[in-house]
Amino acid sequence: MSVYQAGLHSAKPPFTFQPSFWEPLAKDVLSANAWGYLHGNAGAGTSYQNNPSAFKHFSMMPRRTCQSLLNPRGQETLPDVSVTVFGEKLPFPVAMAPIGVQKIFDLEGESGAARGGASVGIPYILSTASSASIEEVSSAMDEVSPTARRWYQLYWPSRQHDDITISLLGRAKRAGYTVLFVTLDTYMLGWRPSDMDNGYNPFLHPDRIGVEIGLTDPAFRAHFKNEHGYGIEETNQQHHHHHTGTSSDKNKGGLGPAAREWAKIIFPGHPHTWDDIKFLKQHWDGPIVLKGIQDVEDAGKAKECGVQGIVFSNHGGRQMDGGLSSLATLPGIVRAVGDEMEIFFDSGIRCGADIIKALALGAKCVLVGRPYAYGLALGGGTVSRTFCGPCAETCS
Ligand code: FNR
Repeated sequence: MSVYQAGLHSAKPPFTFQPSFWEPLAKDVLSANAWGYLHGNAGAGTSYQNNPSAFKHFSMMPRRTCQSLLNPRGQETLPDVSVTVFGEKLPFPVAMAPIGVQKIFDLEGESGAARGGASVGIPYILSTASSASIEEVSSAMDEVSPTARRWYQLYWPSRQHDDITISLLGRAKRAGYTVLFVTLDTYMLGWRPSDMDNGYNPFLHPDRIGVEIGLTDPAFRAHFKNEHGYGIEETNQQHHHHHTGTSSDKNKGGLGPAAREWAKIIFPGHPHTWDDIKFLKQHWDGPIVLKGIQDVEDAGKAKECGVQGIVFSNHGGRQMDGGLSSLATLPGIVRAVGDEMEIFFDSGIRCGADIIKALALGAKCVLVGRPYAYGLALGGGTVSRTFCGPCAETCS
């Protein structure tokens, strides 16, 4: 708002107000690897491309001189866009989508992004595939506002690793995260040609980008030691010959073996069953939201399971090619379960009008994804405009 007002007095803003420009600008400052990961999507990209096109199929019809639309608080001239989610009032119907390994976009990574959200009252959803720990991000948010809302996204380990799931949920609870988002569409990573062309998987480079990616978790550390006969610290030098990679494997040594093990656990390769949701309810005492629902029957099943919400999402087109846009099928879902659950929406939100359309079609709140990561790449505190990413050595 202050930037907007300064603009009325001819001051140039420190960023462009045209969100469609953020994407090409971010491409310019990111390494090819980081850009490929952030912008990339599944297969030939049809699910990805369908997301923005769907917004064009809906247009808004404004109403005029509507007394009932005036802000009831009298003097204020700005409309009240707040929304109540799980009994808490948010200033905007917006939260920050979980996005993994954000240190490849900016050295401050998740902490920088979460601080930005906290400073304007926007909840931050921390990914299980983060490059900063659960506790670290929470402390960063506390610096801005101890009451800032923090939510946790779970990539759900297979049931044989329940101890790790319980550990992650316990840590999130203790660190002040209040809502659990369980992502159901990523039990394995999508077929992403841009990452494959780059020969790049950010989850396997923890030491190059200085990330933690859950390697601090005590249950995971115990599992690793049990499995390999040595601890994660020891992987650094002495034991890299133990892991099974070939000699051409770029990830050998360092934290590579631990990162590979972690990726195997959080992307276990097979889906959970609806019955497994009971286990999560036993170990999380706040609201649970299932992320990645698209089908009406699945939304009905989510409701039967007694979870409090869903994120209607196609994962930004990153998981499955040849799918529908996320927006197209939103109205049907809202008709089916909208009265009983909180409906979040994501995939393709690029500007304010998109948010209004998603809300008009029945979503309660939207998650913004790639656009804030573009912003992090462009405006993040510690990275120069010409940076080649913290993994500079390996960038092409
Ligand atoms: C994601 N998304 C995601 N979702 C999730 O549940 N856990 C995660 O770790 C990630 N990681 C991730 C990384 C990157 C680089 C992107 C772009 C996305 C999906 C995310 O939460 C959201 O569903 C999409 O970003 C929505 O699509 P748009 O609007 O960003 O295109």
